Amino acid sequence: MANEEVMARIDSDRERYVEELMELLRIPSISTLTEHRPDMQRAAEWLRDRLLAAGVSSAEIHKTPGCPLVYAEHLEAGPDRPTVLVYGHYDVQPVDPLHLWETPPFEPDVRDGRLYARGAVDDKGQMYMHVKAVEAILLARGELPVNVKFLLEGEEELGSEHLDAFIEAHTDLLSCDVAVISDTGMFAEGLPSITYGLRGLTYIQVDVYGPSSDLHSGSYGGSVMNPAEAAARIVAGLKDANGRILVPGFYDRVLELTEQEREEFRALPFDEAEYVRDLGVSATYGETGFTTLERTWARPTLEINGVWGGFTGEGSKTVLPAEAHVKISCRLAPDQDPDEIRDLLTNYIHEIAPPGVRVEIVPMHGGKPAIVPLDHPAMSAASRAMERGFGKRPVFIREGGSIPVVATFAKALGAPTILMGVGLPGENAHAPNEWLLLDNFHNGIRSAAALLDELAALAPAAVG
Ligand code: BES
Ligand code: MN
Ligand code: MN
Repeated sequence: MANEEVMARIDSDRERYVEELMELLRIPSISTLTEHRPDMQRAAEWLRDRLLAAGVSSAEIHKTPGCPLVYAEHLEAGPDRPTVLVYGHYDVQPVDPLHLWETPPFEPDVRDGRLYARGAVDDKGQMYMHVKAVEAILLARGELPVNVKFLLEGEEELGSEHLDAFIEAHTDLLSCDVAVISDTGMFAEGLPSITYGLRGLTYIQVDVYGPSSDLHSGSYGGSVMNPAEAAARIVAGLKDANGRILVPGFYDRVLELTEQEREEFRALPFDEAEYVRDLGVSATYGETGFTTLERTWARPTLEINGVWGGFTGEGSKTVLPAEAHVKISCRLAPDQDPDEIRDLLTNYIHEIAPPGVRVEIVPMHGGKPAIVPLDHPAMSAASRAMERGFGKRPVFIREGGSIPVVATFAKALGAPTILMGVGLPGENAHAPNEWLLLDNFHNGIRSAAALLDELAALAPAAVG
């Protein structure tokens, strides 16, 4: 079978794929830092060139008001075959704290079958699996079983600021039957996983202002509302003792888990004691009535991301600060809406803010949650593909993280997204010493190639 030839090629080219990925990982494409703008361009050009070298018929860079997008297509399979849109992101998170890295973040290093570098798993390595899968099929057969488009962006870690506008302006260019993203994780090593649910996000900053300058806490303490105390009161008013968020209307659109989903979550090999130990905490904590997997995958949250204000230096300084600040984000469950939640939260914070301070709320980025229908034929195709790639049937899981473009693909293109990620718990995405298990990278390429064959077997109408 032609498939065997593709798999054999992927197996024999394994080392070369890693070498190439290391080239991409050497480009410090940190989207949040403007001094890295030239690196964004370099990474985009590198990808465009690799796509063309892989045999894809066209690949080009599209400018956006921010970082460039790479779009490529190979549509030789023709209109009676399905079209698959591969999405990935070449931007990475900042690297600080730098001193905690065992080897420099942009000098990729292989240790114990793991490739260490910023972006190894999130998302350069996972994105590149699809480029190599396409290359291997083209080398083995000279043609692809489906039409393939690539959309690779450089602003995912910033909240994909310009992506929705690009997609909405290019719905014909991007039209597809199904989208594929490898930017999620496996439940555990050796347990391939397909993600069918992602949480959304809404992020705000709360600025609390009191007196026009810092005050001597002896002369003035007791006479005015302290902004740091006001911030603490606000924060304390957002949740009750059961971990339930007190913002009125917050839960109105939350889709409850079905009994079957809860059962399937319970059937996964999750060890609470090990989880607690790995995280270095004494116990789990969260909304009463839900398990840890339910809380992180399917329930909304409200978390304080940062708090500052007043005197934080060495020693003591008797001061009553003029201002205090809190960054707050909510992970959203399907079908909560980020704009609606931001408004509800904003109104509620103004309501509970104590008198005597001025509270300003600055909205930051957000993204919609997503659910991919489990009964979609593309999902069973993906399951067969991963089984072929990994030699083991995948489980269906959800993730607590966010990939806002999944909701955009559903809305603007009418396409479901297969979330076929190969990350592992503990791979340190966004943290020092990020790594990618090279076996997963390899089996991910095999799965990505198998997926195109599996999807080809579905008629375009059955997929879209
Ligand atoms: N790859 C992650 C999304 C993710 C995280 C999937 C955890 C599965 C598990 C992505 O690069 C990411 O970091 N997303 C941001 C989105 C935000 C900036 C809008 C996130 O989840 O914080
Ligand atoms: Mn990612
Ligand atoms: Mn990320």
